[in-house]
Amino acid sequence: MSVIRTQVGIIGGGPSGLLLSQLLHRRGIDTVVLEKHSRDYVLGRIRAGVLEHGFANLMREAGCGDRMDAEGEIHDGVYIAHQGRMDRVDLARHTGGNSVLVYGQTEVTRDLYQARADMDGVVIHNARDVALFDLKSAAPYLTYAKDGATHRVDCDYIVGADGFHGASRKAIPSDVLREYEKVYPFGWLGVLSETKPVSPELIYARHERGFALCSMRSQLLSRYYIQVPITDTAAQWSDDAFWAELKSRLPQDVAETLQTGPSIEKSIAPLRSFVAEPMRYGQLFLAGDAAHIVPPTGAKGLNSAASDIHYLYHGLVDHYLNDDDAGLDAYSEKALARVWKAQRFSWWMTNLLHRFPDSEDVDQQLQRTDLDYLFSSDAALASMAENYVGLPY
Ligand code: APR
Ligand code: PHB
Repeated sequence: MSVIRTQVGIIGGGPSGLLLSQLLHRRGIDTVVLEKHSRDYVLGRIRAGVLEHGFANLMREAGCGDRMDAEGEIHDGVYIAHQGRMDRVDLARHTGGNSVLVYGQTEVTRDLYQARADMDGVVIHNARDVALFDLKSAAPYLTYAKDGATHRVDCDYIVGADGFHGASRKAIPSDVLREYEKVYPFGWLGVLSETKPVSPELIYARHERGFALCSMRSQLLSRYYIQVPITDTAAQWSDDAFWAELKSRLPQDVAETLQTGPSIEKSIAPLRSFVAEPMRYGQLFLAGDAAHIVPPTGAKGLNSAASDIHYLYHGLVDHYLNDDDAGLDAYSEKALARVWKAQRFSWWMTNLLHRFPDSEDVDQQLQRTDLDYLFSSDAALASMAENYVGLPY
């Protein structure tokens, strides 16, 4: 068995694992990233594309902000379409000038891979059967299988950044781990198309037929979603049926200007709220989707992962460079406090904008009233805006 030694062993080469590895490497802390799949597979996944300003700052600190700043679009407002009209949430006005950056997660991940390669960072792809050992000791280690052999990585700390289906959360004993979960009774059917976005800013739409979202990756690439029954499959939705349903859920003047075209990607994503506590067990720290999932309404998935990485990065830097463990000791509590606030916001937006299969007249009237209240109150708009651009770390 080959054995290598590192300070921080990171499981998962998604945005969480790569960003942490990049930040630590720049501070002289050694990491090894073990990724189950190939780089092309990881980069083939289409995910959300709205970055909080705090996340964008972390990318800059990691030395990965140049393309994001050149190609990403600053958005200082979003629309909510409801009852046939469009109302705008002025993010900048209600947050003292904050905004979000529209830049695809796939591009974030591509930039992180490039930065890791430029620094000769160790990212081991196709690392299978990762297993975690001796988490409660000062000398934990990982094993993985590759090219027909078993390899071992000795570490000071292990970071589980291996997504919802990864191995690291499962390594925490069930009498220690507490899981909270809510699965919503619908999914989002998403389409990517090489068309001009219907609006320069995102439109979240509440409609009697169900939720819809008009988003984008650039001024040439649109991303649209419609709420569908969770039992639907993407194959059963032709492009024509998708465009017709999307248009039916938008205000008429918006629908009339919507440019349609062939879909270049079409898939259905389930909606789930999930949190695992604690986020630390011995020398293992969980980060990102490994510890929590939000429904996509509000675009908090990647951004919640980023706040974990922020706390973990500073905790590890304080440990290695300042001999101070306070940050690591407080990691789980601090990360979870922010995670739960992102959960609350995503749950609120999901409940506000979707058609629930069992909803009664009273539920729908309360949704309408919630929206009327939002657009009649500066306090309510400020609450929406500060959450949308991201609460402070
Ligand atoms: N061993 C090694 N790698 C693994 C394992 C395993 N057992 N299981 C999963 N992985 C890898 C996956 O292949 C994936 O590349 O871990 C990575 C996890 O990446 P993501 O699922 O993207 O999770 P994360 O990096 O936390 O990213 C934050 O927030 O809401 C989301 O869409 C958002 O994906 C984004 C996420
Ligand atoms: C996206 O562009 O994919 C997107 C944007 C905003 C969301 C969710 C997804 O809330």
